[in-house]
Amino acid sequence: MTIRQLAGTTAVVTGASRGFGRAIAVSLVERGAHVVGVARNEELLAELKEQLGDAFTPEVADVADPTVATRLIADYRPQTVVLNAGATPPVGSLREQTWEMFSTNWNVDVQHVFNFTREILTGPLDPGSVVVSLSSGAALAGSPLSGGYAGAKATIKLISSYAGLEAQRLGVDIRFVSVLPQLTPATGLGKIYTERYAAMAGMSEAQFLEGRFGGTLSAEQVGESITDLAVDDSYTHPAYLVGTTGLQSVE
Ligand SMILES: NC(=O)c1ccc[n+]([C@@H]2O[C@H](COP(=O)([O-])OP(=O)(O)OC[C@H]3O[C@@H](n4cnc5c(N)ncnc54)[C@H](OP(=O)(O)O)[C@@H]3O)[C@@H](O)[C@H]2O)c1
Repeated sequence: MTIRQLAGTTAVVTGASRGFGRAIAVSLVERGAHVVGVARNEELLAELKEQLGDAFTPEVADVADPTVATRLIADYRPQTVVLNAGATPPVGSLREQTWEMFSTNWNVDVQHVFNFTREILTGPLDPGSVVVSLSSGAALAGSPLSGGYAGAKATIKLISSYAGLEAQRLGVDIRFVSVLPQLTPATGLGKIYTERYAAMAGMSEAQFLEGRFGGTLSAEQVGESITDLAVDDSYTHPAYLVGTTGLQSVE
């Protein structure tokens, strides 16, 4: 087992203004990295800057803009990249969705993972770099109330695994790994869907979370798990579930 030291290294975290991304940024800074946090909400990024000080650089940007990946990878040359930004999918059954609603997560989540991953492979980043992409447990289980969300997240898992194979073929030492967190009400996005899926199952939120997932996952647990994955090279699988009991490889 080789543990990478984060002191003196730079990490880029997309979607760092709130939710999982904020917790991931905090966890990486606590382990010694300098974090560049990307999101659109300038005020929330400024609050995080206030909390983390010199160890944090805010970057106000829309990750769906393809020029953003090119600029950030060239400017910062990070050793760790966490592609976490994600749109909140509009709630609705299939017949209530329009194509615009259905494709929300393809245009933001998938597009940004695609653009960053291409830049990282083309660069390429330095040997030993790690790229973590946020998929979702929904990629395996489906998410019938959120349009194209589950398919988009399954595609992110695929893009990450393709990148890992391509890196091997090119002889480039970059580890690509996707993570599939369980649903949690700990974030704005997760709260909406925990309520909906609990109601659909005819259960209280607490019953639903206990019965389906064995408890409630916190944003801090996700942050810690993703930092563990990023620093420990013994996590060699292409994808991991993230739950209340930690990381579990997806076969
Ligand atoms: N919560 C869950 O239960 C759950 C489960 C599995 C997977 N996930 C995945 O985990 C990731 C984080 O989710 P979360 O629950 O933390 O969601 P969240 O609380 O809604 O946070 C989403 C983050 O993404 C950023 N973002 C969204 N669109 C963006 C854009 N166009 N450009 C730049 N930043 C953008 C947001 O910042 P701004 O609005 O400031 O731009 C925010 O920082 C997502 O990829 C999500 O699909 C979540």
